[in-house]
Amino acid sequence: MPAHNSAPVSVPASGPAPVPVTVLGLGSMGSALAAAFVAAGHPTTVWNRTSAKAAPLVELGAAHAPSAAAAVAASPLVVACLTRYEDARAVLEPAVAELAGRTLVTLNSGSPQGAREMADWAAAAGAAFLDGAVKNVPQAVGAPETQLLYAGDRAVFDGYEPVLRVLGGDTVHLGEEIDLAALYEMAVGATLLPALVGFFHGAALLTGRGRTAASMVPFSVKWLEMIASILPALADEIDRGDYDRPFASVGVFAAGMGDESRQAEEGGLDTGWLEPLQELIRRAVAEGRTEQSVSALTEVLRRPGPTG
Ligand SMILES: NC(=O)c1ccc[n+]([C@@H]2O[C@H](COP(=O)([O-])OP(=O)(O)OC[C@H]3O[C@@H](n4cnc5c(N)ncnc54)[C@H](OP(=O)(O)O)[C@@H]3O)[C@@H](O)[C@H]2O)c1
Repeated sequence: MPAHNSAPVSVPASGPAPVPVTVLGLGSMGSALAAAFVAAGHPTTVWNRTSAKAAPLVELGAAHAPSAAAAVAASPLVVACLTRYEDARAVLEPAVAELAGRTLVTLNSGSPQGAREMADWAAAAGAAFLDGAVKNVPQAVGAPETQLLYAGDRAVFDGYEPVLRVLGGDTVHLGEEIDLAALYEMAVGATLLPALVGFFHGAALLTGRGRTAASMVPFSVKWLEMIASILPALADEIDRGDYDRPFASVGVFAAGMGDESRQAEEGGLDTGWLEPLQELIRRAVAEGRTEQSVSALTEVLRRPGPTG
């Protein structure tokens, strides 16, 4: 028997059955999505306002449609990855006749309200609709651990789940309320800027002392892992509304505020970003929450503050 040589194949033997899919929007993310569909063996049609961005995907094996309408007409599943929902609608408006009877999936970032408006628009167009969010960078699209969140009709999701799963192995359907993916994206994403600004603050502090930001990274990573490890306990306190057995109290944070500000001022840093956070702690103290868990700040956040 001749030795078996593994030859390149365009359709993985164990992959899902090929389903034609169209990708509208070939920015960084849309191009990565289209490339993942092509790699998984799904006949992929692409379209982008700036048509030159289609060339690398055509080289991979995608078909380039001359218009958004032609792209929509090519596949039962249409994935739109434009900057905003408004942009998706602007692109799809001339293709609305072709969209009827197909499934539209939006994978842009946006607000829950934006998702609801998009759903109304898709329903008026006669299309089934799922809204989704890619919780990673384009380079991670297609990897087993990459997370994508979806919301919308369960049967529609189930029908296309094997196709959508090629974009990331951690593909989750959150529920039928159409704005849930956008809601969770916003809720989870709220950590990003405060965490990064905190990191940049620390980097400014250390580089001001002639040390590198890189020297902080191993410690910052451990610190973020510690924060991740206490989230379940904090969430449990919030869900039970019971803040009376703290392992980190509001008072502990209140006591540390002065040192934090003094250290920043000594380093010549702008401390303005700390002020609203410290004001939250002060409001919690004023409400008599000093002995409560720091997770009780959630209760303070439920009501608009003095400037809210
Ligand atoms: N990149 C990431 O790391 C990442 C991660 C998670 C989620 N996302 C989300 O994915 C979405 C796309 O991001 P991206 O990184 O791919 O952005 P990008 O590289 O800036 O690409 C934006 C895409 O939208 C198109 N577009 C925008 N407005 C349009 C309009 N009015 N009409 C027609 N086409 C329009 C652009 O077309 P042209 O090429 O013609 O300009 C391009 O294809 C965003 O909502 C983003 O928040 C991105």
